[in-house]
Amino acid sequence: MSDAAILRSTDGEVGILTVNNPPVNALSAAVRTGLGDGIKAFAGDPAIKAIVVIGGGRTFIAGADIREFGKPPSGTSLHDVIAAMEDCPKPVVAALHGTALGGGLETAFGAHYRIAVPQARVGLPEVHLGLLPGAGGTQRLPRLAGAEFALEAMVSGRHIPAKEALSRNIVDKVADGDLLAAAVAYARELVAQGAPLRRIRDLPVKLGSPTAIEDFAKSIARKARGFKAPWNIIKTVQAAVDLPFDEGMKRERELFAELLTSSESAAQRHYFFAEREAAKVLDVPADTPQREIKAGGIIGCGTMGGGIAMNFANAGIPVTVLETSQEALDRGMKVIRTNYENTAKRGGLTADQVEQRMALIKPTLSYDDLKDADVIIEAVFETMEVKEGVFTKLDAIAKPGAILATNTSGLDVNQIANYTKRPSDVIGMHFFSPANVMKLLENVRGKATSKDVIATVMSLSKKIGKIPTLVGVCEGFVGNRMLRQRGVQSAYMLEEGALPQQVDKVIFDFGFPMGPFQMSDLAGNDVGWRIRQGKKEKEQRNVRYTGYVADAICELGRFGQKTGAGYYKYNLPDRSPIPDPEVEKLIEETSKKLGITRRAFSDQEILERCLYPMVNEGAKILEEGMAQRALDIDVIWVNGYGWPVYRGGPMWWADNVVGLKAVHDALLKYRDMSGDPFWEPAPLLKKLVQENRKFSSL
Ligand code: 3HC
Ligand code: NAI
Repeated sequence: MSDAAILRSTDGEVGILTVNNPPVNALSAAVRTGLGDGIKAFAGDPAIKAIVVIGGGRTFIAGADIREFGKPPSGTSLHDVIAAMEDCPKPVVAALHGTALGGGLETAFGAHYRIAVPQARVGLPEVHLGLLPGAGGTQRLPRLAGAEFALEAMVSGRHIPAKEALSRNIVDKVADGDLLAAAVAYARELVAQGAPLRRIRDLPVKLGSPTAIEDFAKSIARKARGFKAPWNIIKTVQAAVDLPFDEGMKRERELFAELLTSSESAAQRHYFFAEREAAKVLDVPADTPQREIKAGGIIGCGTMGGGIAMNFANAGIPVTVLETSQEALDRGMKVIRTNYENTAKRGGLTADQVEQRMALIKPTLSYDDLKDADVIIEAVFETMEVKEGVFTKLDAIAKPGAILATNTSGLDVNQIANYTKRPSDVIGMHFFSPANVMKLLENVRGKATSKDVIATVMSLSKKIGKIPTLVGVCEGFVGNRMLRQRGVQSAYMLEEGALPQQVDKVIFDFGFPMGPFQMSDLAGNDVGWRIRQGKKEKEQRNVRYTGYVADAICELGRFGQKTGAGYYKYNLPDRSPIPDPEVEKLIEETSKKLGITRRAFSDQEILERCLYPMVNEGAKILEEGMAQRALDIDVIWVNGYGWPVYRGGPMWWADNVVGLKAVHDALLKYRDMSGDPFWEPAPLLKKLVQENRKFSSL
């Protein structure tokens, strides 16, 4: 027995090294050192003829220990471990189950042969952490599977199923049954055959077309915009094609080091842990008993209800959807079917799978059919009267212990809960549109929501493929509340001298998929217009009105893409936005009417005025306890609003890129320039700046 991180044992003449570092056998210093020592010990032991490396517990090795990045290196390096395996004078077999990812797969590449169970998946997902495979993966995968395949696999970072891995020579054998027994038998077979000690480094790189790398780079240009890692990965593959192995390795090291110290990778590593933390609720222990969810119910089969029902069906959970009329029900079910059929057309589902999913969604007009549902999600019109009617009925028919959820985007969840005699069973589940596609879920904790309901809904969210966060009851919850701040300032900037295309370009260049005006054109400008008319915001609010330009646009019937014009003109069918002189004129007239002399805006000012108020609102949200931690806000913005993940999220960005003091001082500057109390820094922000602390320290 060596270090506890690696267990040494033998089966006859086969030495076995079992990685023992739960939960995912990450390559900590102890694992690396133990593995290196184990290989050397067995290599020097005359009684041992072959070595098997296997993972203990649920998986092989999930990769480098991400928590060790940025700390001073200690223990044996992964390069040395892999070299020790590759140069071992006895056959080394890696036995894969669970996932062999990143440095885990690179470790397996050090072995002479690889065997896997059929359910195993392998991959080099470093790209998601803003990195590249830094222990030879970029040089060895092209040798095994060809340069084209390696590019696609490393830039997508996808998990490759064992069967595909076999067809690509990434594994040599797939075996059912007990993996260790199969691996030991395989090792014996190799010894008996006198099989060569096959080192991947000695294989030639396969390159199909001479322009393959260039073509690939072109094909990812749009998707990889703003990211650093995909481009460095491409360079490593070019090196694998052009250079001898050792020189290629040197190039890999340089390109890896460049990424490791980049702000993009720091942001993406922050995000990796943030997403996992966001699923945890500070005052709800992980072992809180959960309610069993075997069947769901959805009220309303419109835009949101239909998408939510699909999430259940996709996860194999039967769900009943209720509507007010047969016509609405038929319409809703037809949209669901069309969505599935479109996925099937793109090859994402088979015809049978479409039918299986449809069979899990039962349409109804009767509340009686919801009596057995364990969770019922309401997605009806956004008025309190309609919600009251629905929750009163649900209270009467739902079985005891059923979770009653609302998808409201703006109404008070506490008030909704009080329409029932069981407010502790009521919670908000704020999905984003399209609900079957968007990953984010803001689960909204009411005053009375019980802890087991929260625990159940957080884990149900994951089961139905979502990334859950927990927020409190406040106007717009977390995401929309912050978005509103950006909207206010973009509207003001139009009046003061900017144009939609200038604001949108700054936001697009920052890394968002589109700017606020393009987004508004996509969502429909009439939505906000109707709300403003309803609220009579102009008269009621003691703040500067935000809708002068927006109202004027809507008065011309320019509701956005759907009417062919909004803040932009649209050329159908490609729908690319075209700046419109008519809009420019309208904006200039609005400024004139308001008595504002238009001035030039720098891109920096636009960026600050759009994003710093969001950070300030985030501080207020934290202060009020509406989000658990700054990282939850980051997860919401990355998944719900297109905040570029390589900038970590608004709070991480403020903490680490801009600095809280710079944000604070800019807020004061704009306050003094405009005299608008909008810009007053949040008390929490002031306090953190005074104490020289970050949001992440809270
Ligand atoms: N290092 C440190 N901790 C890790 C880790 C890693 N590589 N991978 C997972 N963990 C932690 C998670 O943070 C989580 O911790 P928590 O319980 O305290 O929240 C715990 O392990 C379990 O992880 P998940 O909740 O994600 O478990 P799942 O079963 O859902 O998923 C997984 C397992 C598919 C392995 C997933 O964790 C994953 O994708 N991990 C990252 C894999 C990866 O990116 N590997 C490459 C690392 S970089 C590298 O290897 C560089 C090399 O080329 C030099
Ligand atoms: P929608 O108008 O597309 O769908 C609502 C559906 O509910 C309609 O099909 C209607 O027939 C049905 N309905 C109305 N009253 C009903 C009742 N009493 N019983 C059963 N069904 C009834 O609206 P949408 O967009 O799906 O919104 C639903 C809810 O989701 C709203 O609360 C909205 O605020 C919220 N939401 C909407 C988002 C969006 O982007 N559309 C995003 C997040 C939340």
